[in-house]
Amino acid sequence: MSVPFTCSVFIGVSLDGFIAREDGDLEWLVSRGEAAGGDLGYDAFISGIDAVVTGRGTYEAGLSFETWPHEGRHCAVLSTTLEEGADPRITVYRDLGSCLKGLTERGAKGVYVDGGQVIRTFLREGLIDTMTITTAPVLIGSGLPLFGPVGGDVPLVHVSTRTFGAGVVQSTYAVERRD
Ligand SMILES: NC(=O)c1ccc[n+]([C@@H]2O[C@H](COP(=O)([O-])OP(=O)(O)OC[C@H]3O[C@@H](n4cnc5c(N)ncnc54)[C@H](OP(=O)(O)O)[C@@H]3O)[C@@H](O)[C@H]2O)c1
Repeated sequence: MSVPFTCSVFIGVSLDGFIAREDGDLEWLVSRGEAAGGDLGYDAFISGIDAVVTGRGTYEAGLSFETWPHEGRHCAVLSTTLEEGADPRITVYRDLGSCLKGLTERGAKGVYVDGGQVIRTFLREGLIDTMTITTAPVLIGSGLPLFGPVGGDVPLVHVSTRTFGAGVVQSTYAVERRD
């Protein structure tokens, strides 16, 4: 599938591949990110982003943050259940096709794809260009996974790896587009 914008992932995981505990808890990640110091490259990453696509799970988790995390950027939320128009800060899309069409019509250039299910959806369609994965040095045993079935091997090119304090390691990969 071809789209006129880039799609990037920037996400934190446990060493065993989870993005949150099953109940949504992120303390194991946030505490280690804070111990690592700095913004772990987020500000540089987000400066190249003009639109965000999240799943309903990630959108709802963000509602508990002190400030709206996507201020100044178009925020598309994929959901079959969220009421359209319930939150003026977001645009709800019922499926991937309408979301991609909406982003294209808005002239999006750099799209941040966030949320485990949504990232896997984009990966399956060959839409992700780069993934920056920040790994916290902890095994949490179970939780919400980052990866899962992606409909065939996804070849990656290693771009860089950085090590931060507190044993936090960040690697960036480029994904070979399959279109
Ligand atoms: N570690 C990190 O850096 C990080 C980053 C982001 C999020 N998180 C955490 O991850 C958790 C959420 O991740 P998640 O994997 O459970 O969920 P998610 O991808 O954020 O959201 C899943 C939901 O998105 C909707 N969805 C996904 N694909 C869709 C499609 N193709 N068409 C229509 N709707 C679609 C569905 O909503 P409906 O059920 O409404 O249809 C689905 O239940 C939260 O706890 C959040 O805090 C962690």
